[in-house]
Amino acid sequence: MVEYDWRPEPARKSLNRILPEVEKMFAAELQKAPHEWHKFKIRLHREWERLFIYLHQLYGWQYDFFYTLQRILHSLVQYWLERPVELKLLDEKRETDPHWFLSEKVVGGVLYVDLFSDNLAKLDDHISYFKKLGLTYLHLMPLFAVPKGDNDGGYAVSDYRAINPDIGTMEELSKLAAALRDEGISLVLDFVFNHTSDEHIWAQKAKSGDPDFMAYYYTYPDRELPDQFQKYLRDIFPTVRKGSFTWCEEMKRWVLTTFNSFQWDLNYSNPEVFRAMAEEMFFLANQGIEVLRLDAVAFIWKRLGTNCENQPEAHTIIRAFNAMTKIVAPCLLFKSEAIVHPDEVIQYIHRDECQLSYNPLLMALLWEALATREVKLLEYSMRNRYPTPAGCTWVNFIRCHDDIGWTFDDQDARNVGIDPVAHRKFLNKFYTGDYPGSYAKGVPFQFNADTGDVRISGTFSSLAGLEDAIEKQDNELIEQAVRRVNLLRSIQVSIGGIPLLYIGDEWGMLNDYTYLTDPGKVNDSRWVHRSRKRWNAREDLTDQDTLEWRFFHEMVELFNLRKKLPALQNGGMEIIHTENPHLFGYNRAFKDQKILIINNFSEKPQKMDALHLNACGVKRDVVNLINNEILSSGSDLVLNGHQSVWLDIS
Ligand code: GLC
Repeated sequence: MVEYDWRPEPARKSLNRILPEVEKMFAAELQKAPHEWHKFKIRLHREWERLFIYLHQLYGWQYDFFYTLQRILHSLVQYWLERPVELKLLDEKRETDPHWFLSEKVVGGVLYVDLFSDNLAKLDDHISYFKKLGLTYLHLMPLFAVPKGDNDGGYAVSDYRAINPDIGTMEELSKLAAALRDEGISLVLDFVFNHTSDEHIWAQKAKSGDPDFMAYYYTYPDRELPDQFQKYLRDIFPTVRKGSFTWCEEMKRWVLTTFNSFQWDLNYSNPEVFRAMAEEMFFLANQGIEVLRLDAVAFIWKRLGTNCENQPEAHTIIRAFNAMTKIVAPCLLFKSEAIVHPDEVIQYIHRDECQLSYNPLLMALLWEALATREVKLLEYSMRNRYPTPAGCTWVNFIRCHDDIGWTFDDQDARNVGIDPVAHRKFLNKFYTGDYPGSYAKGVPFQFNADTGDVRISGTFSSLAGLEDAIEKQDNELIEQAVRRVNLLRSIQVSIGGIPLLYIGDEWGMLNDYTYLTDPGKVNDSRWVHRSRKRWNAREDLTDQDTLEWRFFHEMVELFNLRKKLPALQNGGMEIIHTENPHLFGYNRAFKDQKILIINNFSEKPQKMDALHLNACGVKRDVVNLINNEILSSGSDLVLNGHQSVWLDIS
């Protein structure tokens, strides 16, 4: 028997009650745009039921739930009215092409504005550089007002409506968004919604004893509840501090601070927090942001007696935000930043939740396969864990501003004969250069003496052996490092999803150890790969003799090739077993186009035999799209060390 769902009826009723009031309140503005208002209402009626259901799940038990609904509908209308016309046009455009981001034409980049161009005003001058690279998606790392000194690289936000004055102004940001949009580049920003800095006005009011704002955070007069919570919580930055609570002298209370002591966790069981953050989100959307990277999604709901990660309500909150964006700013997409177990990562990906997600598993396993020269764990995991729900895709990165954690599933590892604990130890040794024969120059991050866990910092090129090779002045080693970089890039660009370039990696940026002399950074080794170093030839791309130019050029070639191949859009990815432990292969297909991609993780030549190739679809002479060489029908495929081939088997 289908269970009776009582919720649609009250959802409809509540809207019928609240909407006329809101219409009255905004009558003057709404009369100016009756046609637009009509379209808004269509979206509102479409999304309201699920929004109601989510909100009811979160706050329905509270005595003032109807007030919550009123306030939220009011905010939706207000921020829609404030939305600039050109963005409303973009909303309409995206509504007719909602899957634009699944295209092979989409290529992303991410950078810190202050490190890259000092400030927003100067970033404008580099749009041509982004165009040369072929970017269509640009993520600017957090650039909001933050406390001076350590602010977790911008992730301790003091004001979501103000840009860090050293970087620029909100007006400059929205101008930049428009300029990028004109060039076909979507602007992406972080939405740091799990916590604010302890200098945010809400935190300040809480400190001054205002009960309404104390209720924005988790604060406790004594250790009773903190101690109960603490039993199940993990330390995120164990080298910086132990425990997840911070004593606030002004309030004389303990505050929940999952990350750093100056990052106060917001209390989403308070509907005012939900509404207030939704307003901050729409404010940003109205500046022209097209994708919000939802920071630390796994942590946003706390439940005593659990590790306070990946709680069901975390999903409900994001889904509620998603329903609201579909009403106010339909072009806005969410990207999930869930760096947790792969079983949990996938849970955030859904059309009604986050359409995009970082792919930490692919990232970790590419580095894993590079170290072991074997692809069994990569192949096994990707076969089982790559597919995403319809209308969604991965954001594939090799390096980002954070560390590398070995987030593969233990049972997956055991299934292919790997001891997960010993393997993580090996990988950590390998990437910190502490393993015989290792070429990697990684730096340990957050060693936890209690658990023995550690993660890895370092740039793409330094981890791939370039720094070591340059130090040794060994051209052969340099070549090998370049080949490793190109191998990982080839997979990143072709396996399906949006490739996200960490700017600097396009020219082979090496580790930067200057953070060791900066007291605000010395305890955070992630600064080794957050470098101010610039490639001087960045604007003068004629300097073709340099390694930097070669890296850059090869990156661009690969992006360009991707954009010509519809088979590389999202979907149609099938892992194949190559019968060679060093070769990682997959098919990509769309309509009539079919491409077989084989990647050699060994530095030695590796073979895939003709018979097996035939079974994988190579039925005649085929072209390797990377170098236009022909593989004749009936011959074995021999790949050079770290070579990647894209065979057109259409
Ligand atoms: C995310 C960010 C990381 C930051 C943390 C806390 O994981 O990527 O850099 O430290 O959130 O905001």
